[in-house]
Amino acid sequence: MGKYNFDKVIDRRTSWAEKWDVRDGELPMWIADMDFETAPEIKEALLSRLEVGAYGYTYLPEEWYDAYISWWERRHHLKIAKEELIFSTGVIPTISSSVRKLTTPNENVVILTPVYNIFYNCIINNGARVLESRLFKKDGKWEIDFEDLERKLADPQTSLFLFCNPHNPVGRIWTEEELGRIGELCHRYGVTVLSDEIHCDITDPGKEYVPFASASELCRKISITAIAPSKAFNLAGIATSAVYVPDAFLRHKVWRQLNTDECGEPSFLAVTAAIAAFTKGEEWLKELNAYIYANKCYCEDFIAKNIPDAELLHAQATYLIWLDCTRIANESVDLADFIREKTGLYLARGEQYGPGGEGFLRINLACPKSYVTDGMERLKTGLKMYQEIAR
Ligand SMILES: Cc1ncc(COP(=O)(O)O)c(C=O)c1O
Repeated sequence: MGKYNFDKVIDRRTSWAEKWDVRDGELPMWIADMDFETAPEIKEALLSRLEVGAYGYTYLPEEWYDAYISWWERRHHLKIAKEELIFSTGVIPTISSSVRKLTTPNENVVILTPVYNIFYNCIINNGARVLESRLFKKDGKWEIDFEDLERKLADPQTSLFLFCNPHNPVGRIWTEEELGRIGELCHRYGVTVLSDEIHCDITDPGKEYVPFASASELCRKISITAIAPSKAFNLAGIATSAVYVPDAFLRHKVWRQLNTDECGEPSFLAVTAAIAAFTKGEEWLKELNAYIYANKCYCEDFIAKNIPDAELLHAQATYLIWLDCTRIANESVDLADFIREKTGLYLARGEQYGPGGEGFLRINLACPKSYVTDGMERLKTGLKMYQEIAR
């Protein structure tokens, strides 16, 4: 038994949780937030800040910088200097703002698909074009097609590479070698790298992600990295993140853009939560990762035994699993909608993650085991019914 209780079920319907805005009896396992309470140490820090009663404007104290710097140095072996760190209200605000500032209208932003669907919105809504390079499966692993990626980066209209490290939805931790190769290619073609590392602290026990900027000097020089405690500590609703930009010229641009887009001002809760997470949350996170790993292993085993037509590759990072149902899915009936309608299990549909996502389902396992077992039974029933009607 650990110190923390991840089996505890909390009622999130009463707090306007987006995930739980569903019909009675439905089980939502779609959007990427957790059904666990955050670490009690963070909750306590927030409650004590709320006790002050005055909720006015907040500056970034030394503790905020120290918290990020020591966490990344201790856990991810990356040395960040205070002046290289900028506050942002979120990773998506950082990405949207960067696309607008770092590309001119109609330039290309390259992404590796399938990828977090909101990347598309960030690119298109800010006047740039999406240029997709598809991941592919090889020997039980998702891989980057480097030849194709190089062609897309070499396009003279490409100015930004929007990267997801580790990758949502496939759950890959990219290796130092892969990151170094990306860095070389992007540098060769004058492409800036925006690395979204929001999922970096959710990894299998014993596995570590590699920050893009730490892979090589080139990677450091050409990159902007978005980091946050929000995924790992269930703080997404608090709007708290940071941007790490080692290169002074690029940093000035990012700082100006976040300022003009008005996403550079922290709320008092954003500062309190980040400091508490990175100074007091480590033990909780360790237990959380072990719990999520157990949930993943349970699902892998369940799916292998009960849904032989679906294929699941082990995701080393994120609390998401990316289920290949291409042998089951049929274009005439939407798989995710069908499962929701027949069983109440609400999953994210693969198509929305771009080319390569068709026929896949994304399932969020950051929830008590009781939800996972219920979810797997519903999935089995839903897929069986689907196969029967599709025959
Ligand atoms: C890869 C990725 N980036 C960014 C976000 C959202 O970031 P934020 O809430 O800080 O805007 C998510 C949320 O699911 C995500 O998966």
